[in-house]
Amino acid sequence: MNHACRATYSVGETLVDCSKCGHLLDIAYDWSRVPVPGSLKQFESRWSSRRNPLDFSGVWRFRELLPFAKDEQIVTIGEGQTILQSSAGVGKYAGFQTGKLLLQYEGLNPSGSFKDNGMTAASTHAHMVGAKVAACASTGNTSASLAIYSSTTRLFETIVFIGSGKISFGKLSQALDYGAKTLQIQGDFDDALRQVRDVCAARGIYLCNSVNPFRLEGQKSIMFRVLEGLNWEVPDWIVVPGGNLGNSSAFGKAFTELKELGLINRIPRLAVINASGSNTLYQLFEQHKIRWNSGKFDEAKINGFFTQMDSDNRRASTLATAIEINRPVNLLKCLRALEVCDGVVREVSDELVLEAKAQIGAGGFGCEPASAASVAGAKLLREQGVISPSDRVVCILTGHQLKDPTATVAYHSVDPALLSAAATEDDAYATMLRKAGVTQTPAANRPIVVENKFESIMQLLDRLSL
Ligand code: F0G
Repeated sequence: MNHACRATYSVGETLVDCSKCGHLLDIAYDWSRVPVPGSLKQFESRWSSRRNPLDFSGVWRFRELLPFAKDEQIVTIGEGQTILQSSAGVGKYAGFQTGKLLLQYEGLNPSGSFKDNGMTAASTHAHMVGAKVAACASTGNTSASLAIYSSTTRLFETIVFIGSGKISFGKLSQALDYGAKTLQIQGDFDDALRQVRDVCAARGIYLCNSVNPFRLEGQKSIMFRVLEGLNWEVPDWIVVPGGNLGNSSAFGKAFTELKELGLINRIPRLAVINASGSNTLYQLFEQHKIRWNSGKFDEAKINGFFTQMDSDNRRASTLATAIEINRPVNLLKCLRALEVCDGVVREVSDELVLEAKAQIGAGGFGCEPASAASVAGAKLLREQGVISPSDRVVCILTGHQLKDPTATVAYHSVDPALLSAAATEDDAYATMLRKAGVTQTPAANRPIVVENKFESIMQLLDRLSL
């Protein structure tokens, strides 16, 4: 995807970066050879043939828009049954007019996160090239997703590389339960990704991180379903958490292609939200003003940024562990998406992420911390006047609440007094939250301790007027 390098490779190859220019590869189609429907509405006809697994899949029912595989090669486990929801409470919290803030709830996927949209496509390609072993590095969701595809289809074995310490138990338990060989690298996600890339190259193992361009093809479908949820109308804004920047890159590609194909008449704006403890994109885009610039990006400045990061030994740190990433591999593709979508980037603190998460939960849509960065970011952009209260905004809820129960329980149960600067005592939750800079929990729903006595419970209910 280097603008100057026109090297092409066939769909049967398993490269992730270009052997000529070293940048990541992009999937390009000759649309004149694909029977793309004349309007997006025509995809609705597939709703009546949902017994066909390809029409049932929320990814492959749009298969003409990611036409790299033959129907019989497609590997699907029913991913993408996700919906666009509105929550009056969450919309009000973020400062929007009723019905204007919508939540694309990707936690409903088989492994509980948006990753399945991409993993069905990567698994399909792995199957096409006859891969016997697949691997990924992960903050937890990619590994859960790869592991579920491997265990349900039995097409390949799986090795997952995770950093030590930070992975949430929900996600770790999935990789273990689905039978993936799980390697805990003594390092963080950025280290694990570097290792898995080298190991895959050395051993000929199929790599399933979002450096794999087929992953992004599948993730385009999240935007197709958003449009479907809006009766094929284009929203004003898409707001998405940014980690390794695969989603944002895929969304930009989806809209670019839909516009080129004449299937939409305008492209929504894109807001990518970093956690402030892992804010490489925010720093590069908003502070150093790095732009895609039609492919003529300032590579020396980007390299200088990472060299400085290494020499300062700066490590990502956030309670939104899914996006605890300092070296986003899809940085350039994301810069391109930001250009196409007239995008913005913001950072949000862990305190605001957890508050937004509790509000989303109270609205009935449990999500994990990283996902709530989208709503926290939409709220911030509303307060800054970048997004108007009447704009139609779609926040992507990337992962399910049960992925990371520890963060949720810590937020709701911690004694607020232990978070104040004057606190002298501590407990495990307070330590965890204070380390992340959380000083208050205004949206907490604290459990109430009560004696194991009928009268005491009744008295409590009286006090609570229940
Ligand atoms: N939200 C969740 C729940 C995630 O798991 C991730 C990434 C992101 C957001 C960020 O998405 O990378 O496309 O910008 N998780 C990866 C993993 C890194 O290993 O599971 P992105």
